[in-house]
Amino acid sequence: MPTATLFEPLAFEHFEVKNRVFMAPMTRLRADGGVPTELMAEYYRQRAGAGLIVTECTAVSDTSMGTYINAPGMFNDAQEHGWSRVVDAVHGAGGRVFLQLWHAGRVAHRSLMPEQRAPLAPSAISGVGELHTLDGKQPLSEPGAMTAEEIWQVVAEFAAAARRAESAGFDGVELHAAFGYLIEQFLTSGANRRQDEYGGSAAKRRRFLLDIIDAVQGQCSLPVGVKLSPSNTAHGIEDVDRIETFGALFEELAGCGLAYIHVMQPLEHDRGKPGLIEDTVTFARRCFPATIIANGGYDRTKAALALGSAVCDAVSFGTLFIANPELPAKLAGHDQLAMPDFGTVYGVPGNPPELGYTDYS
Ligand SMILES: Cc1cc2nc3c(=O)[nH]c(=O)nc-3n(C[C@H](O)[C@H](O)[C@H](O)COP(=O)(O)O)c2cc1C
Repeated sequence: MPTATLFEPLAFEHFEVKNRVFMAPMTRLRADGGVPTELMAEYYRQRAGAGLIVTECTAVSDTSMGTYINAPGMFNDAQEHGWSRVVDAVHGAGGRVFLQLWHAGRVAHRSLMPEQRAPLAPSAISGVGELHTLDGKQPLSEPGAMTAEEIWQVVAEFAAAARRAESAGFDGVELHAAFGYLIEQFLTSGANRRQDEYGGSAAKRRRFLLDIIDAVQGQCSLPVGVKLSPSNTAHGIEDVDRIETFGALFEELAGCGLAYIHVMQPLEHDRGKPGLIEDTVTFARRCFPATIIANGGYDRTKAALALGSAVCDAVSFGTLFIANPELPAKLAGHDQLAMPDFGTVYGVPGNPPELGYTDYS
């Protein structure tokens, strides 16, 4: 495998990106009723020095956004128009941007669902955790097991959102198959107890994701990436055999014509836990020969080492991009990095939305 540095370009099938310092998707909760705002366009424009920006997770339908207040969507014309302003701002500043498509599944609260209905999930098994609702913090609501029709409906929603992303001018889409949301719920044995063609074996648990990839690739011509977190335990995710589940998945994804896979390392509090894969990126590289974006806990030194050993082709940075909009230039210059104010990471009704968002230099 050829090795690279952080500041070299990387070629995708239809375009090249200027460096390998990518911006990881980050929910910031500044949308207005699901519609991306001018301020969001400014936020992403400020970070266009990244080789590639992956946007915050974006709901494919109104049933998919029961997690957050003020997350964006991509299922109506106003949202598509708002996103097209974001794309124009990033392209105008010389950047590239993929839209991250997301369905929350069981990581939701009824009060944030349309008609207060039960969240969707592969099986009627609740996730673990609490969400901010209009009535304060509440535990995740009990979900309903999706019918086959509901599964096909959500697959179609991903494809429709990808078509909108293409119309809005995005360079690609990333499917959010990580961090305990719907696609990861289907992939993992703790959340998926189905006994139909979407569950029962690791191969059947993969089918939902593979159907979405198929539908998206069939209905739009944008490059498609997939974000995965093989050692994630957030939101109550458990799996009987992560090596089997994710090893076979990576091998199958290698034949899917993806632009990349985006692989998250275990979070700090999960490191060393039994049953988890310690270095998910090195593990992925053994099964997946094409482009890998490594993510999770990387700094300049670790990123350079990972690229230098060819376990990945680019590194994405989340937290570091919050307070360092020009992160690639700072890394190249060995500049001191600023730390974010975690109290203003998420937009809160009543706070000026630019606070802790577009006011870092
Ligand atoms: C404020 C915040 C919001 C996040 N929102 C998302 C998201 O919308 N989609 C996603 O895939 N990951 C999300 N993540 C996870 C990041 O993409 C990334 O995987 C994680 O922060 C680890 O990378 P880092 O160590 O460079 O921060 C979020 C992380 C943070 C800090």
